[in-house]
Formats: sequence, structure tokens, C-alpha cells
Amino acid sequence: MAEVRARRGTMKSRHARAPLYEALEQYSQKDIVHFDVPGHKKRLRSGLGEYFGERIIRLDANSTRELDMLSNPNGIIFEAEQLLAEAYDADYAFMLVNGSTFGIQAMIMTACGPKDKIIMPRNVHKSAINAVILSGAIPIFIEPEVNLEYGIANGVSYDRVKKAVLDNLDAKALFVINPTYYGVVSDLQAIIKLCRRHHIMVLVDEAHGAHFPFHPDFPDNASTLYADMATVSLHKTGGSLTQSSVLLLNERDITYSQVRTTINLMQTTSASYLLMASLDLARRNLVLNGQEIYEDILAIVEKAKVEIAAMPGLHVLTSDDVDGHGIYDYDETKIVIRVNDLGLTGFEVYDIMKNEFGIQLELAETYVILAVVGIGDDQQTVNQLVAGLRTISHRYAGQNKPLKLEQIEWMTERPMSVVSPRDAYYSPKRIIPIKDAVGEICAESLMIYPPGIPLVIPGEKLTQRIIDHYMFYREQKCNIVNNAEDPDLIQVLGEAND
Ligand SMILES: Cc1ncc(COP(=O)(O)O)c(C=O)c1O
Repeated sequence: MAEVRARRGTMKSRHARAPLYEALEQYSQKDIVHFDVPGHKKRLRSGLGEYFGERIIRLDANSTRELDMLSNPNGIIFEAEQLLAEAYDADYAFMLVNGSTFGIQAMIMTACGPKDKIIMPRNVHKSAINAVILSGAIPIFIEPEVNLEYGIANGVSYDRVKKAVLDNLDAKALFVINPTYYGVVSDLQAIIKLCRRHHIMVLVDEAHGAHFPFHPDFPDNASTLYADMATVSLHKTGGSLTQSSVLLLNERDITYSQVRTTINLMQTTSASYLLMASLDLARRNLVLNGQEIYEDILAIVEKAKVEIAAMPGLHVLTSDDVDGHGIYDYDETKIVIRVNDLGLTGFEVYDIMKNEFGIQLELAETYVILAVVGIGDDQQTVNQLVAGLRTISHRYAGQNKPLKLEQIEWMTERPMSVVSPRDAYYSPKRIIPIKDAVGEICAESLMIYPPGIPLVIPGEKLTQRIIDHYMFYREQKCNIVNNAEDPDLIQVLGEAND
């Protein structure tokens, strides 16, 4: 790693450029009469300018010869992608304009065809489940380690990965999350070595790890460890615009043109230059200034975590919790706070923080809240978070009994898979009241968002506990994601009764 970091130190002069952004800026200033799309023609009178400002309208372009083309880049987009690849220590980078959701689907669809086995943790984001439906791959699930005290799923232990690999030596790929939503990292280096030994490709969901390469105290990023592919949501923690993301490739078993072909199967032919230019600018900022920015942020977060941990009724997850909960390393920019000792759920604290203190947290779970600290934060924003928590601690600590809910124990119990997700998705379905669905085979994914990790996926058998868990989330007024038009209904396998 020292060698990689030294290499990064020498690349700053190349990264002072933002070729895509610079060309777009020049293009936007030219006096061109547009008889191409987009239809706003970069003119204020089109209706958007007065709301978004003229600058946004002028930078919102379509592909032209000088602006290159995302589906077959060989000019400024390719140059910007090469710089992204270098920043993340990969052979190639592919800019994406439909989030890491799309990158995860592209990785899995490139690596796996119908009936190929892919090993993955059960706590994957819904995009990985959807990718299995699209590709027809057969998922072999590994149970993540569960931290029952916090009520969260962590990484997968090396031992469980090894067992799954040795039991499935014919698997095509293994999918890992680096880090989980809560900042937890598995032993990725050992997992990659194991998979290389057995000729299994490693695909990494690095949606929450865009900042990893830019400070030595962060966990290792997947491309540096030579994972085959990784998808990184620069929009989540790297500072680019929402929806912009990047797929990284180390060309070994999978070639550049294979990934390009899959991407072109599904990605828009009208990629947003605002999103792509934001990736270019975010990369430049991360390479040039990331270490300094994150040095400050880490110091601010460290102090804040000490303060929060000292507040009665609150507990904070830190790197020191590396003790068999499937945690190999930890991303300290995530602030996971356990609040149930206040006698409140995470959902209640989440609402109080928003409604009383104007603080928007990333998510809540039964016992915890999660604050994500990003490149735009500073001492002032973190102080506000700490002040809000201090008021809540003063108000509620010692007032109620600590909250202990049996739902937490259910996290260790997983539904049984009866039909592959793809077969379930394409089977005849009927819609029934969810309260009557015990014993039925589910035809859709049910989850709360965020985090978008399904309680049940297509092909799994519904149990009373899954349904009770779902109802609990409904009572807590979580955002439910399901496909039936009514949250009291669910799609299950079987012919519809007319
Ligand atoms: C673990 C994980 N993977 C993938 C995604 C998808 O990322 P995106 O929102 O960029 O599509 C998310 C989104 O929340 C996520 O939490």
C-alpha cells in the first residue's frame, strides 16, 4: 500500500486538469444556434432558466464531436475516465449516470450469465438482487455477521466466505460490500486472494467508499487490492452530483470491451454532461485536496464521537469495535449512534433531529441512527449534529426503560429460498393481502429505503416473522418499497383468481 500511496503522490500535476469539465465550459460559451437536442436550446425563454439559472442550462449539453460520447468515448470523456481510473488505481473507469445501481447491475451482468453461480452476502442492496434477476445468475447467499446490540448487519467473515467458496468452486463470481452502509469493511484483501486462487471473480459494491483512496486512515479500496470490478458512488461521499457514479475494472478475466458492451445494452444514449462533469471535478478535488480535507474531517469526527459516546443513553460504533462482528476495518466518517437506551427507536430520534433541529440524518433503524459525514462537512455542521444529540440525551436519558425489541433477534433468521429470483420474477403472480401471505412464495422484494436491503426477495418463502417485521416498519412510518400498489398487498407466486 505504501508504494501505491507514493504513486498517488506523484500524479497530482496530471490531475490538476478536468478535461471534460473544461471542454464543456468552453463549448457552453460558444455562440451556437442549436437545432439539436436538448430542446431548451440553452435559452432562458425555454422555461427552466429562470428556476435553475442560466449557467445550468448552458452546461446541459448533448453529445457532439467535441464533447465526445459516453457510449463510445475516445475524446474528453475517455481522458476523464482515464484520470478516474488512475485516481482509484484501476485499469479502466466507466462513468455512469444512473447511480451505482446501474454499475452493480452492469458488473453482475458482465461477469455472470444465466445459471452461473454468484456468491453474495444476503444484506446486499436491492440493485444486486435485481441484477441476479436480469442476468439469471443463481445467488449463493452468505449470512453477514449481525451486531445484535446495535441491530445492524455487518460485513461477512472470512471464514464464511471461505466455506461458501469451497462449497461452490464452480461459482463465477463473488460479490462483496466495501463498506456496508454503516461503514463496516470485511477482510477484502484475504477474500480477493482466496478467490484468485480458485478463479472466482470479485465484484465489489463500493457505493459508500468513494473517499477510501484519498486518506491513509481509510480502509483499502477494492481496485487497489485488485478486485476485478468495483462500483463507486462518487455522489454519495465524493462530492459529485446525485446519480453520478463510476464502474472500475481491473482487466484480467473481464475485458474493457465486455464491460462496455454490457453498459451500452442498458445505459442512456443521452448522458447528462452536468453529471459527468461533476465526476471530473470531484475526482480533481479528491486527488488534489482529499488528504487535507479528510485529515480535518477525521479529526472533527473523532472528537464528535468522543463527545457523543459520553452523552447518557447514547453509544457510538468505532474502529475499536473490531471484535468478531464481521468487522475487519471501519470507515470512521460514518457515525452510527445507538439510541435505544433512551427508550426511543432510531426512527423516533431521526424524526426529532429533523423536526426540531433541522438535521437530516442518512437513515434510521430500530436501535440506531446513521449520520454520514462527507467532503462538504466541517466543524460547524458536526457541532450542530452534536448539539442536537446533546439536547435529546438530556431530555430522554433515564426517563424511560431501555428499549429491547424482539424484532432485533429476527435479523439472524433468514427466509428460505425456494425458487431462483429470476424464475420467481417471471412466474405467474397474484396479489394478496400481506397478512394472509404466510407460507406463500414471494414474487417481489420488500424493503425499507434507505437502506434498500430487502427483508425478502423473489423466490423466498414468507414467514410470520417477516410479515411482522414488515408491519413494524410500516408502523414506524418508514419508506416502504414494494411493487403492489397498496402497502397492505403483496405479490406472491401463483395464478391470479379472477
Ligand atoms: C450498499 C449500497 N449499494 C448500492 C447502492 C446504490 O447506489 P446508487 O444510489 O448510487 O444507485 C446503495 C444506495 O443507497 C447502497 O446503499
